[in-house]
Amino acid sequence: MFTSAELLDKINACLSDLKFSRSPEGLYAPVTYVLSLGGKRIRPVLMLLAYNLYKEDVESILSQAVGIEMYHNYTLLHDDLMDKADRRRGKPTVHKVWDENTAILSGDAMLVLAYRYMAEGCPSHLLRPVMDLFGQTALEICEGQQFDMEFETRNDVSEAEYLEMIRLKTSVLLAASLKVGALLGGASQEDAGHLYDFGINLGLAFQLKDDWLDVYGDPKVFGKNIGGDILCNKKTYLLIQALEQASDAQRKELVRWLATDSFDPAEKIAAVTRLYDAIGVGALCEDKIQAYTRLAEENLRKVGVDATRKLELEKLLETLVSRSV
Ligand code: IPE
Ligand code: IPE
Ligand code: MG
Ligand code: MG
Ligand code: MG
Repeated sequence: MFTSAELLDKINACLSDLKFSRSPEGLYAPVTYVLSLGGKRIRPVLMLLAYNLYKEDVESILSQAVGIEMYHNYTLLHDDLMDKADRRRGKPTVHKVWDENTAILSGDAMLVLAYRYMAEGCPSHLLRPVMDLFGQTALEICEGQQFDMEFETRNDVSEAEYLEMIRLKTSVLLAASLKVGALLGGASQEDAGHLYDFGINLGLAFQLKDDWLDVYGDPKVFGKNIGGDILCNKKTYLLIQALEQASDAQRKELVRWLATDSFDPAEKIAAVTRLYDAIGVGALCEDKIQAYTRLAEENLRKVGVDATRKLELEKLLETLVSRSV
């Protein structure tokens, strides 16, 4: 059995060995750039941990692990364009170093490469289920990202709509990473289902924490600009709760900031954060993170392997929900 740290080393070694010998250089340089910036690599680690519940030869699915990380990084290139984000993993985003068209096209190339790596070396009897799950997941992420954008211009997004949006844009990829690992490891359909559900609840806690960090993270370590969600009027859990729990005067001020097109960014971030503090939505978000963490633990308990084999997944869940990056 491997620890998360050992699996991370294997994944990073594999990613840094990738060479793109095709031209033009302008298409592939951003791929190498974004993959070299690090990141937590949680999706491939989850995949290998799930596989390792059943089998030891994790090297045999490194191509699928690379595929899932390649896919995730593609979503980041397009997400940063959509979110007008100019910093990621502590470095300028691809559309800032190059330009918007490059971020679109290099992202497209990464999506295609992701499919290739996902299929490469996949045992023939598992090729269909793995690629079907991957395709379904990729489509759901587009749906989640579209909801995320549409919600920017709405002030009546409900908590249920928000949770469905983050299930689609974030949770399903974590869930699919685990399920692909489980299927390749020969898990029963039942276990694969429990691991998928574990990924869904972990993903909800993970995105809630991402939203929380976007406001309350430490700018020195977060790697993304603090307050980006506030500037885009993203309907995060914090904003939805703030709109719901605010006094009349607080709601009026909040809605005024949401409606103003011309503002000083730092001023808007400071004002909305003050409202969040006064309304107490940070603590509500933290409670919600805990609730989904407990649900994820329950899902993991149902997986039919020895409890000691599941310790690494249990530890990773705790690490991810208490992270600062
Ligand atoms: C960022 O994902 C996008 C979200 C779903 C919040 P990560 O937080 O996993 O980003 P990296 O890969 O570690 O940089
Ligand atoms: C991430 O949502 C979802 C995807 C990338 C698919 P965010 O927009 O919150 O992610 P960050 O904060 O930019 O990493
Ligand atoms: Mg974003
Ligand atoms: Mg986004
Ligand atoms: Mg975010």
